[in-house]
Parts: sequence; C-alpha cells; structure tokens
Amino acid sequence: MDPKKWIDVNAESFQYSLDHFVIPDHYETALSSVLIPHGVIMDRVEKLAKLIVQESTGPLVVCCVLKGGHQFFADLVNYIKKNVTRGGKTVPLSLEFIKVKSYSGETSGEVKLSLTDEECKEFSGKNILIVEDIIDTGKTMVQLLAKLKQYSPESVKVASLLIKKTPLSNGYIPDYVGFAIPNAFVVGYALDYNEYFRDLDHICVISEHGKEKYAVSKN
Ligand code: HPA
Ligand code: MG
Repeated sequence: MDPKKWIDVNAESFQYSLDHFVIPDHYETALSSVLIPHGVIMDRVEKLAKLIVQESTGPLVVCCVLKGGHQFFADLVNYIKKNVTRGGKTVPLSLEFIKVKSYSGETSGEVKLSLTDEECKEFSGKNILIVEDIIDTGKTMVQLLAKLKQYSPESVKVASLLIKKTPLSNGYIPDYVGFAIPNAFVVGYALDYNEYFRDLDHICVISEHGKEKYAVSKN
C-alpha cells in the first residue's frame, strides 16, 4: 500500500482511551477504543476535498453510497463548496444517492443498484465520483464499477474514507483514501453495526460486549 496516499492508522499507536473523549452513554460499554477522533476525520476530509477539486476536469456527479457513506459525503461536499468561498478553483457538483446490494452467496458476483436503468443512463458522458465509507474486501466496489461502466460515463473515480488492511482484500484501491485501518470492525461516523452506532462522531472499535448488546436477535 502506498503510504503517501493515506494516513496509515496503526493498531498499536492509534487506539485512544474512551475516557479521553465524549462518548454517548448508550455506547460507552459497547466500544473498546477510539480509533480516529472526529476532528482528525474532518481535517482529513478537508484535504481530500481539496485534492478532488484540484484534480477535477469538469462538472462532477458526486454519488453517495448509502447508508454508510452519507456522513463522509455530506462533509466532503461541504468542504468542496467551501473551496469556492476561499477563492480556490471551483467545480459544479450534482448529487446522486445509491444503495448497493451485493449477493455474496452467488457466483455471478452481481450487485443490484437502487437506481433504475433509466436513472443510470443519466451517467452517460459524465464525470462520476463515488463516495463510500469503507473498502473491506473490495468486492462490492469492483462490481459496482463494472456495472456503472456499462452506462458509458466519461470517467469514474472513487473516494473512500477508509480502507481495511485485511487478508481478504481483492487488491482494489480507490483513487482517494482517508485512512488505512487495522483489520477490526469499526463503527461511527455513519458506519454501523446492525444499524447502530451511526449516531457516534468518532470512528471506534466495537467491543465484544457491544457485538452482543447490539446483536440482531436481541433487538
Ligand atoms: N464497519 C462497518 N461496516 C463495515 C465494516 C466495518 O468495519 N467493514 C465492512 N463494512
Ligand atoms: Mg459502505
């Protein structure tokens, strides 16, 4: 992995104690550590916004992958807009939202998009920026890219806030990455565990107790 392209969050040096941050009471016992504090996330997102504007060649269709990507998407778009008020280069944005369902059990490796075929045809000739929360195995993103390219966009780039250092990776690396993280299950900043923890600002490592407390069967 290219160390210059992202911040390498290391399991040993980047585990902050929960005691040093404000954590909602309902999640206090469900987490084991803070991995990336909210302020650091915001600073990094601002930098990614700057890089994206610098490297843009025309109007962008910024495409949010729901639900996990929504916070990163919202903050990224805000920083791209701020670049304008600071007298920097400007780029016209249009916004799109998709849900992606992957059928991991199937050998076809197909993904299903929430957009209709008609809506996808709007991508033709456009510069698309996909905004995702995390690349884990890379499987979903590779399939999503293959699907989008069927609609002949001018270009497709991917911004992912996180990339997980997992042996299950298929080697896919996005164009823009915020942080490379250890092979642990993380939550917060819109990343969920069974739909919980999206309402947590910091990116944290879930505890074993948290996995039990918020398990599907116990809701
Ligand atoms: N956290 C939340 N969602 C995810 C993760 C993770 O670590 N990996 C893939 N999806
Ligand atoms: Mg996601």
